[in-house]
Amino acid sequence: MPGRRVVFLGPPGAGKGTQAKRVVERLGLLHLSTGDLLRDEVARKTTLGEKAKGYMDRGELVPDRLIIDMISGRIGQAKKGFLLDGFPRTVAQAEALASSTDLDAVVSIDLAREEVVRRLTSRRVCRACGAIYNLTFNLSSETARCDACGGELYQREDDRPAVIENRYDVYEKSTAPLIAFYRQRGLLHSVNGELGSDKVFAEIMRILAA
Ligand code: AP5
Ligand code: MG
Ligand code: ZN
Repeated sequence: MPGRRVVFLGPPGAGKGTQAKRVVERLGLLHLSTGDLLRDEVARKTTLGEKAKGYMDRGELVPDRLIIDMISGRIGQAKKGFLLDGFPRTVAQAEALASSTDLDAVVSIDLAREEVVRRLTSRRVCRACGAIYNLTFNLSSETARCDACGGELYQREDDRPAVIENRYDVYEKSTAPLIAFYRQRGLLHSVNGELGSDKVFAEIMRILAA
């Protein structure tokens, strides 16, 4: 029985979203990306979106209470299992999660700061379907459109160099402690995010099948 309740940890730009899309397609899990959910709230100008936007634009974490309220009901509805991408990100969030569900595996995708900056400054995302691209390897030009749906590609607000650096600092301070948290609970698996996307995917599938 492959892992059905999975968390992806890792710094910004490590490839969490890229791998999550492939893994949920293969295993039929519900993909819950708190970053994607928040960007949708911002785009729809909801009360939560209005509260979250300033934190996100600065690369700071949105307060735990808002995040936990946004995600907990959705986890409860994931009958066939879930893949959490970008949650939990603080010890308080991990403790809230532990009080509501057990986990089968936590996969930490690791990537050094220099490579994070390189990848995120060249990332483009489809506004319509959320597909993730990179100018350095799978986009022919700045004006290309989405392969999957023809949608417009855009650069995320928080993918400016100064904000990327802050996001990495925030990751090291607030989220990296979760590596030890989950190692102590026997759930942690680490993957080298510098490898090519296919190799990272194969490694994750090997972990989740074990
Ligand atoms: P979120 O959207 O979660 O951003 P993040 O964690 O910073 O991660 P990214 O989405 O930037 O990177 P990724 O790991 O998904 O990489 P990707 O696959 O795109 O959060 C945004 C904000 O929301 C936060 O700053 C915070 O404000 C708020 N927030 C969200 N969750 C929160 C929470 N739980 N608590 C509080 N606040 C929260 O890949 C990146 C690039 O690399 C792409 O161009 C891709 O094509 C390329 N790439 C991927 N894999 C490879 C590879 N193997 N080789 C080469 N290139 C690759
Ligand atoms: Mg992502
Ligand atoms: Zn698209």
